[in-house]
Amino acid sequence: MTDYTLILSQAQALTEGIPYLTANLSNLSALLFDSLDRLNWAGFYEKKDGILVLSCFQGKPACVILPLTKGVCACAARENRIVNVPDVHRFDGHIACDSASQSELVLPIADKDGNVKYVLDLDSPVLNRFTEADEQGLKKLAAFIADAIDGKWIK
Ligand code: SME
Repeated sequence: MTDYTLILSQAQALTEGIPYLTANLSNLSALLFDSLDRLNWAGFYEKKDGILVLSCFQGKPACVILPLTKGVCACAARENRIVNVPDVHRFDGHIACDSASQSELVLPIADKDGNVKYVLDLDSPVLNRFTEADEQGLKKLAAFIADAIDGKWIK
């Protein structure tokens, strides 16, 4: 089982005293990609001007712009909720950046007023990869990132 307590403390240590958003999101995507098994992609999309724009990630090159009207990331961003998709082929509107992806978990990263700023997107080459434990563990990491983005980390 993934040790999310360890991952959170590693995330805190990696970003301690570092105010640079891009550097921190880069290291956090690398941390996740390295720490979780059965992943083919881990990274962030930034919500701006009615679209989602590719941010820091690990994995194969991905779609740069996602609409807010279609796909798993858009659903999480629009509704400010975690979206866990056990089989992407059964999710109407799924956007396949990498044909290897079979399941996907997306978490919103919102400010204190509930405005979504980023989403954290994890893709897996196996079906049913993401459990309730993954959701709960990553939710704490997303909250840590949300708090830091809200004033501590600069672009
Ligand atoms: N599958 C996502 C698109 C982003 S890639 O997985 C990196 C979606 O449907 O929003």
